[in-house]
Amino acid sequence: MKSKASSPAKVILFGEHFVVYGVKAILCAINKRITVTAETIKENKISIKSNIGNLELEPNKENLEIDSPLKPFYYLANKLIKNQNTGIRIKVESDIPLGVGLGSSSACCVAGAAAISRLFKKTSKEEILELAIEAEKTIFENTSGADCTVCTYGGIMEYDKKNGFNKIGSEPNFHLVIANSKIEHSTKLIVENVKQFKEKNEEKFSTLCDKESKLIEDILELLKNNNIVEIGQRINENQEYLETIGVSNEKLRMMIKIGQDKSFGAKITGAGGGGCIFALTNESNLEQTMNQFKNENYDCFSVKIDFKGLDTF
Ligand code: PMV
Repeated sequence: MKSKASSPAKVILFGEHFVVYGVKAILCAINKRITVTAETIKENKISIKSNIGNLELEPNKENLEIDSPLKPFYYLANKLIKNQNTGIRIKVESDIPLGVGLGSSSACCVAGAAAISRLFKKTSKEEILELAIEAEKTIFENTSGADCTVCTYGGIMEYDKKNGFNKIGSEPNFHLVIANSKIEHSTKLIVENVKQFKEKNEEKFSTLCDKESKLIEDILELLKNNNIVEIGQRINENQEYLETIGVSNEKLRMMIKIGQDKSFGAKITGAGGGGCIFALTNESNLEQTMNQFKNENYDCFSVKIDFKGLDTF
């Protein structure tokens, strides 16, 4: 038996960090994908092959014993082969850059949950999402589940801690240019630094949260009309808030300047401190934005919003 599934990467368009304190965030899936192939085998083992390394273990190991970024796959395989009298071979193929805030681990969990579970029964997207979030918790215990959700359903989504996720119906036709700072960052550490900023500047932080909430309400309207120029301006405003809370740095500011000069707007996506920025473009300025990043030797690529989400074969 063989089963295959693929899931998109994601970007946070608006609201990172403030979302931790209850403000709404807007995320979207992008058309970079990870594909997972799962196959039952006779040997009593779980074997995972990927472009970031391999892992081969017998079933029933404790999660704590495993120190590998491939742990979510092991968790899923181990859970789903219980009582099935089979081993499993998993192959992971990805065109998502790893560890730069584009949701590669969530996409792995979603595609992994789908490919492995569908070896044994037809599972719904809801069931797959539940499994994927469980698997992601083996590496990031406090995940909000937002990344796995957008990787499963695709499109654009609003999320807040109290009300959860809500898919946004708009299907805007813009291109995002994503540029990678190649600076590794720890989301956990940067979230901790923001907490300290908040504790020292309660009033300022609360004003920023209010401004971010208002900005996001505006975006929800602007998206309905595909008003790319104004959305771009709000992206730049959101970047100012991120600068204020201290998650930017010199390299990111240089990259954002290129984006803001050439496109409709540019900001950090995700935790900051490193990772990626994105610039909002359409056919009128996509090429010039890409060229400027390339001329200045930045690693960049363009993506569109993925409206498909999880795909199974
Ligand atoms: O670095 P990423 O893409 O995983 O984004 C982290 C988003 C934060 O708002 C900074 C943290 C969080 O848990 O929401």
